[in-house]
Amino acid sequence: MRDSLGQLLQSPWSKVVVFLLCLIPFGYIAWAVMALLRALPLPAYVGAEPVAFFQHFTGDWTLRFLLITLAITPVRKLLNLPDLIRLRRMLGLFAFFCVCLHFLTYIGPDQAFDLAGMLKDVGKRPFITIGFAGFLLLIPLAITSTKGWIRRLGGRNWQTLHRLVYFAALCGVIHYYWLVKSDHRLPLLYASLLTLLFLYRLAASLRKPRPAVERSTA
Ligand code: HEM
Repeated sequence: MRDSLGQLLQSPWSKVVVFLLCLIPFGYIAWAVMALLRALPLPAYVGAEPVAFFQHFTGDWTLRFLLITLAITPVRKLLNLPDLIRLRRMLGLFAFFCVCLHFLTYIGPDQAFDLAGMLKDVGKRPFITIGFAGFLLLIPLAITSTKGWIRRLGGRNWQTLHRLVYFAALCGVIHYYWLVKSDHRLPLLYASLLTLLFLYRLAASLRKPRPAVERSTA
């Protein structure tokens, strides 16, 4: 089973298939936007408040894509599927694309492109402040996600910078927890998954033998 999964992942088509699968949520958004623009009846999944639908849908998918991206390394190591790494950058960029749509829903339909009002809101409502922090953290990661940037920064610096993704996901989880008024089960589930992923990475980095120079000076 694992061997056939490994072979599937080696195929150049695996990336195309995952790309198409990742497009499914955006299909829902595109369908709803098209109905809105053409003044057609809205699909039932949109509900009575289209802006709330776009905000919640894009927010949920940002967190899902972030967690899936963070799960790539542990799953790859635990199941010995080295080729999974080929999907990580693409999944991370889907998370970023989603958060851009999420932010666009906020500054557009929600804040009517009132930049001053938006900045006031960012300072006033803690759940917006922390969400905004998460968004800002993801920007340098998206910019430096290319091979050229890995070369320019050097592998080690690049890796250190990209650990910020844990903080971005943490901001996202806190943002979600703070904005939910009563039922906290889902934000807590996301928080638990993020904690597990973080603990795995921490344990892996503690297990890794340190370079001799570092060890002798510690
Ligand atoms: C890492 C970045 C972010 C993540 C992961 C994230 C995630 C989420 C999630 C999961 C929800 C709730 C979805 C639901 O109820 O089903 C949400 C709602 C929301 N988010 Fe974000 N978000 C992020 C950044 C932002 C930013 C930058 C803003 C605006 C500046 C923002 C504004 C909102 C608003 C206004 C809502 C709806 C609140 C409500 O229902 O009252 N988010 N977000």
